Amino acid sequence: MAALVSTVALLALLYMVAAESQVPCVQLNDGNLMPIVALGTGRSTAKESDTLDDVRKAVFYALEAGYRHIDTAAAYGDEEQVGQGIAEAIAKNIVTRDNIFVTTKLWNDKHRREQVVPALRESLSRLGLDYIDLFLIHFPISMKEDGSPDYVDYLETWQGMEEAKTLGLARSIGVSNFNIEQLQRLMANSKLQPVVNEVEVSPTFTQEPMIGFCMENGIVVMGFSPFGYFVGRDSAKQNLDKTVLIQIADKYGKSFGQVILRYLLQRGVIPIPKSTNQKRIIENIDLFDFALTDEEVATISRYNTNNRVIHPVEWKDYPFYPYEN
Ligand SMILES: NC(=O)c1ccc[n+]([C@@H]2O[C@H](COP(=O)([O-])OP(=O)(O)OC[C@H]3O[C@@H](n4cnc5c(N)ncnc54)[C@H](OP(=O)(O)O)[C@@H]3O)[C@@H](O)[C@H]2O)c1
Repeated sequence: MAALVSTVALLALLYMVAAESQVPCVQLNDGNLMPIVALGTGRSTAKESDTLDDVRKAVFYALEAGYRHIDTAAAYGDEEQVGQGIAEAIAKNIVTRDNIFVTTKLWNDKHRREQVVPALRESLSRLGLDYIDLFLIHFPISMKEDGSPDYVDYLETWQGMEEAKTLGLARSIGVSNFNIEQLQRLMANSKLQPVVNEVEVSPTFTQEPMIGFCMENGIVVMGFSPFGYFVGRDSAKQNLDKTVLIQIADKYGKSFGQVILRYLLQRGVIPIPKSTNQKRIIENIDLFDFALTDEEVATISRYNTNNRVIHPVEWKDYPFYPYEN
């Protein structure tokens, strides 16, 4: 059954190929097409030395390398630099606005219905864009401006998201960090269904129930922190043995990072690798000339520890906290 699901997921993902793009697209439940690899621009798990200008350069390198999807958020504080990287690539005729896909997110302190469209307009102004391709509620949790808990129901927030879509300011709308019960409640009480749930997915946090639920309900999963505990500040603490990943990578002449990203793709997940390093940016989109066997996908899933990289336990007592603890 697992083998069948992964093959079906892959075929579904690779079915829609936008002629002008090097990256295959998936069709969202509202009919729009979304490229199946996105450059991450959030820097929370990144090197301390990454600057905002590194983000501008990374976005440009990515578009030059063939990425057509950039993931940002109001909370990252880098929408301006993302917009500059895009503008530079458009000015150099590398891309057009029409053939790229930009995702941004609504922060937790703008959850009242009447705050949503103005917050999106501010994001668009920072990005230098007239519309966003995908607008996500970053978390189901709401906060006051000082970060203390608020109690705005995400169903109210979603009404503002629907307005953003109706106004044409967001082509597609979705959510991030929602758990299954929250998705069910949202779907049962809304006019428009979310097209995406952006959640953490990696070999060390495999998210089978969430991915299964989303597939059954026509919601695409975008996977953040795809490298899990294999990279970054916490990797040493986890002391993970990469031997299996490296053996698989050697078999295909790829890096362990490419194997991880391909693993997500074959599980039907859109990976969002963050890099500001030009070599790794190029490497992280070079994923379409090899395929893992179903056994290799299953083997990589055995790295699962159910430990999140992004775990904001400081919000655990806030209303609508989505995680177990
Ligand atoms: N919705 C949410 O709540 C949420 C939460 C977290 C993240 N995100 C999104 O997801 C993106 C990615 O998540 P993340 O930044 O937490 O984690 P990640 O992409 O798994 O890891 C980023 C780290 O991996 C390194 N790296 C990149 N490519 C590599 C490769 N091929 N081999 C080895 N190391 C590599 C990067 O360093 P270099 O830059 O030096 O290459 C960086 O230190 C974010 O940028 C953001 O857009 C969303």
